[in-house]
Amino acid sequence: MASGKNALIVGASRGLGLGLVETFLQRGWRVTATQRSASPGLAALSSDALLVETADIDDDAAVDALHGRLAGQSFDLIFVVAGVATQAHDPAHAVPRDVAAQVYLTNAISPVRFAETFLDRLAPKGLVAFMSSILGSVALNESGGWETYRASKAALNTLARSFEIRHHEAGFGVLLLHPGWVRTEMGGADADIDVATSVTGLTDVIEGHLGQTGTAYRDYTGKTLDW
Ligand SMILES: NC(=O)c1ccc[n+]([C@@H]2O[C@H](COP(=O)([O-])OP(=O)(O)OC[C@H]3O[C@@H](n4cnc5c(N)ncnc54)[C@H](OP(=O)(O)O)[C@@H]3O)[C@@H](O)[C@H]2O)c1
Repeated sequence: MASGKNALIVGASRGLGLGLVETFLQRGWRVTATQRSASPGLAALSSDALLVETADIDDDAAVDALHGRLAGQSFDLIFVVAGVATQAHDPAHAVPRDVAAQVYLTNAISPVRFAETFLDRLAPKGLVAFMSSILGSVALNESGGWETYRASKAALNTLARSFEIRHHEAGFGVLLLHPGWVRTEMGGADADIDVATSVTGLTDVIEGHLGQTGTAYRDYTGKTLDW
C-alpha cells in the first residue's frame, strides 16, 4: 500500500500523535514526526519512511529551526496534534491566569502559528489538520466543564477558520478534527475508545478529504460537527 504521500505530524511522542504516525506508515505514507524530547514510542518505530524531528510548538525559534531543517520537503498533510489540558477540571475563575493563558497559547495560538510558518512546505492542494475536540463546539456545549480547555479549542476552531479564509486563494483544505474520547494520558482510562480506533477513523477522514478546499469540522467517524 504505497500512497507516496508525505505527512508532517506535530506532537507525536505518545498518545494520538504516535498512533497516527504508525497508521500513516502502515498505509504507505512517508512521515516526519515531531517530539519535544526523546520519545521511546517513536524510537520503537523503525521505518525508512519515518523521520523523527524535535520541536516545541510554543518555541518560535525551535519551530523556525525545524522549518529550516525541513527545507525542500513538501507535505501533502501537515497535522498539528499537540495539545494540553492543564487544570481542565477547574472552573475558569479557579485557574491561575498564567496557566489559563498557557493552555490558550499551546492549544490555539501555537498550532496556527506553526501552520503559518510551514505553509510554504504544503504541497499544492494539500491539507492542514488541527486536533480540535468536540469540546471546542460552542453549540454542542450542553454539559459544561473543561472550561479553559473548551475555550482554547473553540479559539483554535475560530483561528483555523480565519487562517483558511486569509489564504483561500491558495486552494488548500483545513480540517478541525475531534478524535473521540480516547484512552490516552489526556483522555484517561475511562474514555470511550482506544487509540487504534480513533486514529484509524481519523486517517480515513483525512485520506477521504485530500484535495478538498475550505474548512471542515469532523469527528473520527467523518461526522460533521456544529460550531
Ligand atoms: N484523548 C482524548 O480523548 C482527546 C479528545 C479530544 C481532543 N484531544 C486532543 O488530541 C490531541 C492529542 O491528545 P492525546 O490524548 O494524545 O494527549 P497526550 O497523550 O497527553 O499527548 C499530548 C501530546 O502533545 C504533545 N505536546 C504537548 N504540548 C506540546 C508542545 N508545546 N509542543 C509540542 N508537543 C506538545 C505531547 O508531547 P510530550 O510527550 O513532550 O508532553 C504529547 O505528544 C490534543 O490536542 C488533545 O487536546 C484528545
